[in-house]
Amino acid sequence: TPNGLAATPPMGWNSWNRFGCDINEDVIRKAADAMVASGMKDAGYQYVVIDDCWHGARDAHGDIQPDPQRFPSGIKALADYVHAKGLKFGIYSDAGSRTCAGRPGSRGYEYQDAKQYAAWGVDYLKYDWCNTSTEDAREAYSTMADALHQTGRPIVFSLCEWGTAKPWLWAGRVGNLWRTTPDIYDAWQGVKGTSFGMLNILDGQAGIDSYAGPGHWNDPDMLEVGNGGMTADEYRAHFSLWAMLAAPLIAGNDLASMNEETRAILTNREVIAVDQDPLGVEGKRILRDGSAEVWARPLKGGGRAVVLLNRGKAAQHISVAWEALGYPAKMKAEVRDLWAGKSLGKLTGAFSADVPSHAAVMVRIEGS
Ligand code: DGJ
Repeated sequence: TPNGLAATPPMGWNSWNRFGCDINEDVIRKAADAMVASGMKDAGYQYVVIDDCWHGARDAHGDIQPDPQRFPSGIKALADYVHAKGLKFGIYSDAGSRTCAGRPGSRGYEYQDAKQYAAWGVDYLKYDWCNTSTEDAREAYSTMADALHQTGRPIVFSLCEWGTAKPWLWAGRVGNLWRTTPDIYDAWQGVKGTSFGMLNILDGQAGIDSYAGPGHWNDPDMLEVGNGGMTADEYRAHFSLWAMLAAPLIAGNDLASMNEETRAILTNREVIAVDQDPLGVEGKRILRDGSAEVWARPLKGGGRAVVLLNRGKAAQHISVAWEALGYPAKMKAEVRDLWAGKSLGKLTGAFSADVPSHAAVMVRIEGS
């Protein structure tokens, strides 16, 4: 991507998954406070992003104004607040005439809006795709990319087109991340044809891994960790898999009230290190046998991250042979369990584990 940003997948928080339209400046400030206080900032989270429902009306000059009830202090003051905490600030708009929630969109105002965002101190723009019936996705997103570029301010550009126009084929030169599926739903499995649970989103990533790389990432949507629709095991699996996918790690829960279990998942540094691996090669499913799956991701220095995923209702034993990872069978490799946070010693030939129902085991393997 020409802007040179997002060498590793962006990390941060966004208001949508937990708060929807029910946002205001206090909610955003509290999220920024909690990002620091919870240790998330230290773990690498950076962007605090307001999603839909911040827009008010355009003024007489066509300049976009925030909703005066929800953001009475203005967006500049909020950006300053976030920046003062050593964090970065993100905002949302839409390529169409209106946002999904019916607020003014940026169509026809791309350059004016981009200039306004830069003046406010925006570092990240998520750009949605509602109310765009006559528009071409590549053109519409390229226009906003150009508008952002012309401001001279480094602004991460997040395309939210849901995968219909196959953005992985063209968006690597337009933005830093692009949604690949409809919205995630806070459940292990969704309802067929109606909602996309975590596994449905996961299945939607097959075959597009090679389009991701430093500066340009597939976006399987934001995290649901801590929002209450899944068990802790399921959320650990969700977080593990998003790290395998080199996905943007955008938390979507209420950071100010999360419990220790949620905090521990979101701040697991060894799992985050896999997501943020500088090689930037997205992982993929290398084995599928009924409800057992193995996902693998090559890491800088020759190591591998591996997830054993049990989608089924009963516990099962899952194993992966070194050859399936591109290693010689006789190689001795150090295996480290990233959720237990402990070394499993040096193994030869294969790694296997008992994986509980609806859970994942995640390891890092370093050959020698
Ligand atoms: C659709 C997007 O996919 C969601 O992530 C969210 O931004 C909503 N629109 C907001 O209306």
